[in-house]
Amino acid sequence: MFRFKLLISVLITAATVFSMLVASIDVGTGAQQQELNASETPTNEESIAYGKYLVHDVAKCIECHTPRDASGELIDSRQMEGAPIPVEPPAFVDSWAAASASVAGLGNYEPDFVRHVLMHGTRPNGVVPDNPMPQFQMKQREADAIVRYLESLSAR
Ligand code: HEC
Repeated sequence: MFRFKLLISVLITAATVFSMLVASIDVGTGAQQQELNASETPTNEESIAYGKYLVHDVAKCIECHTPRDASGELIDSRQMEGAPIPVEPPAFVDSWAAASASVAGLGNYEPDFVRHVLMHGTRPNGVVPDNPMPQFQMKQREADAIVRYLESLSAR
């Protein structure tokens, strides 16, 4: 009887492991599918949504590029229009911009200029923008999405 129970539990374990394997194969195919989709050209809307996510939630561009009200809250209607930098530079930093640039509607910038800044951390002529603008090393796809998103914001 004991042996019989043991056999059953071994069988159950084997079945569980097998079904987990099958499930993980499914997950694998799913992930692969997503990667395939990722290599397709995104629609303009997908690009803008991805750019918005990067600007607001990942790279946090809005924190430096959006003006604030008197209580320090970002002014929603003025996203990415450029703003005074609300912190002082540390003593060891020599290049510091008092304000960020307006990039709503891309501002006065060409798309290629902004893409270059985001992908290489420098302007196309090799000059590094002043601190605290981070030297991003983005992928083409990310830079493209951000440019599309910035273009979608109307400049005043
Ligand atoms: C920590 C603050 C900060 C963050 C975060 C930030 N920026 Fe900036 N950005 C600046 C400052 C300051 C400047 C002005 C630099 C200068 O005058 O040389 C600037 C300049 C720029 C410029 C113009 C560069 C030039 O050479 O004229 C672009 C384009 C830009 N930022 C885009 C972005 C984007 C897009 C993001 C997010 C992916 C971002 N920035 C995140 C502070 C920031």
